Amino acid sequence: MVVNKPPMGWNSWNTFGEDINEQLIMETADKMVEDGYLAAGYEYLVIDDCWSLRQRGEDGRIVPDPVKFPHGMKYVADYVHSKGLKFGMYSCAGVMTCADYPGSYDHEFVDAQTFAEWGVDYLKYDFCNFPTVANGEHRYRVMSMALKATGRDILFAACNWGSDNCHHWMRSAGAHIYRSTGDIFDKFESTMWIAQDQAKKLYASAPNCFNDMDMLTIGMYGKGNVGMIDPEDPTKGLPTDEEYRTQFALWCAFGSPLMIGGDIRNMNDYCKNLLQNKNLIEINQDPACNAPIVITSSTDSIAFARHMSDNTVVLGLVNGTAEPARMYIFFDEIGLPSDAPYALECLDAFTGESLGRMEDYLLQQVEPHGCHLIRAKIVKK
Ligand code: GLA
Repeated sequence: MVVNKPPMGWNSWNTFGEDINEQLIMETADKMVEDGYLAAGYEYLVIDDCWSLRQRGEDGRIVPDPVKFPHGMKYVADYVHSKGLKFGMYSCAGVMTCADYPGSYDHEFVDAQTFAEWGVDYLKYDFCNFPTVANGEHRYRVMSMALKATGRDILFAACNWGSDNCHHWMRSAGAHIYRSTGDIFDKFESTMWIAQDQAKKLYASAPNCFNDMDMLTIGMYGKGNVGMIDPEDPTKGLPTDEEYRTQFALWCAFGSPLMIGGDIRNMNDYCKNLLQNKNLIEINQDPACNAPIVITSSTDSIAFARHMSDNTVVLGLVNGTAEPARMYIFFDEIGLPSDAPYALECLDAFTGESLGRMEDYLLQQVEPHGCHLIRAKIVKK
């Protein structure tokens, strides 16, 4: 199979952790359709860690937890498929998963076969509890081969958190996407850390093997498994709408897979509309899949530009600090020196509203933790 665009979907981990079950998955499947997520492009529904019993069965196969999934996984997969969605599951290249459930180390072929029989379309493949004597690159190849050998199209979503310089070898190992950074937490600092770390490796992201910046935290507001509510003061430092807007802009502009990590059964309108913003999704799904030109990148500020397939340019300014910042991009940086007879006709990338013509540079005051995202046409001066 060839994965041409960054995959989009929902994953259970960020909000639910081990607290997953059949009812949650079926309700989420319903919501993905009813609330327009599927129509917006979010097609994979992925169950993360903690879905099985702690021990394999006598036949050597992983056994779904009968309390969480009383009808087994094929039943869940069939339901998800009946909604027009694709179904994803999780395992680990190590002996155990990160939450200490059975991993697929030395069981790759039987597990891939089991997933295929259940109707799995996407496998997230983690890296905890991996024996030091083993070789990560090799074991990712083994699972890739095991998935292919099933004859079923299964998107292989590797997750070794960017370790072992995997941006050099994940594509050849057979991953369709791979986590290129550590785990996200529902805190703006985490969003900024991931984005600036990612900036160095964007060149490796292209069709059929995309860098994955981890699941979105939009809509969590500090609650859930990777939520960061301070128990001493639950009102302190909660993520804001502005911060979620910045997260979505970065994930879209950097071409990351868009996996929703919030509870879509309880998403407020602001976050639902943000996640379904057509203009932003179009940027993320642009067929050219070009890596952005990164002009500056630190946890305080990120400035970038990205060439789109229709000859427009996306320009982005992200303010990681707690103060308003005057930020700029000289068009010379993106290949348009002052003496070039061309200017940029700019639209707000979120709303499509015209921002007028700009020559030589973009200068903008950006709100704390905010972003300014523009889509620009090249026009004669
Ligand atoms: C790792 C991964 C997370 C999640 C957990 C599950 O930390 O990076 O995305 O899958 O394991 O235990």
